[in-house]
Amino acid sequence: MTAASRVIAVTGGASGIGFAFSEALARAGHQVVIADLRGAAEAAERLKAQGLKAIGTQTDVVNPADVAGMVEQAVKAFDRLDVLVNNAGLFTTLTLKPFDQISDAEWMRVMEVNTLGPFVCAKAVVPAMRKNGFGRIVNIASTTPIKGTPNMLHYVASKGAVIAFTRSLARELGKDNITVNAIAPGFTLSDGVLENDMHSKMGDVVRKTSRSLQRDQVPEDLVGALLFLASDGAGFITGQTIAVDGGSVFI
Ligand SMILES: NC(=O)c1ccc[n+]([C@@H]2O[C@H](COP(=O)([O-])OP(=O)(O)OC[C@H]3O[C@@H](n4cnc5c(N)ncnc54)[C@H](O)[C@@H]3O)[C@@H](O)[C@H]2O)c1
Repeated sequence: MTAASRVIAVTGGASGIGFAFSEALARAGHQVVIADLRGAAEAAERLKAQGLKAIGTQTDVVNPADVAGMVEQAVKAFDRLDVLVNNAGLFTTLTLKPFDQISDAEWMRVMEVNTLGPFVCAKAVVPAMRKNGFGRIVNIASTTPIKGTPNMLHYVASKGAVIAFTRSLARELGKDNITVNAIAPGFTLSDGVLENDMHSKMGDVVRKTSRSLQRDQVPEDLVGALLFLASDGAGFITGQTIAVDGGSVFI
């Protein structure tokens, strides 16, 4: 049996972990829609230059009109939308600080991008998935809510919400043959992390103190779990969170 080629939208897919996802999915024969605030068209061009199938669309995940446009472009280019990867998030640009130094405005902004964003995107893609009787939603969470990581309470709370969102939405969409799962990455050396000294130092601590596999985690470590969740073989798995973190937490 040959693996199905899917139409897959990756939010925040132009850089970091998101670009690693976009590239790996396209190399596996899928048609990729890169939706990002910035750099989407350029990222799609990088894939097309390798002979891969991709389009880029400038999208703010918290803007319903942008997200509707993303779905429209996906359907126009590739006839349907099979898989949504809710990867866009605020993390690498955040400054680590004690909870009482986080302003209400910063808390709201992190919640907006990290929780409202996946909600807006799920609402926009589900009608197209229902129409085809097939869909996969993969939310990029984090192991931080499992660990109770300090000094980024807004981020940790937002990713805990993503895990809860995954479970409840899986129950609502099962009847439509749409699965909803999450991947919880451990600390990963994405482009944004490498540019942020404070985050890089945190990575040293994780590697030395809690990880079973004693090396740095890179974006490519995450692609296997996503390829699996998008594959036919994962069709009966829903509501789950898969930790990909070198054996740091055990869910
Ligand atoms: N790097 C890590 O250690 C780590 C660990 C666990 C989870 N994660 C999660 O993985 C995902 C990717 O992380 P990363 O390290 O590659 O981050 P990053 O900051 O390097 O990249 C995030 C991407 O999202 C895009 N983006 C941000 N806000 C957006 C918006 N409103 N609309 C559309 N696109 C937007 C950015 O332009 C960027 O391309 C995030 O959800 C993050 O929380 C990262």
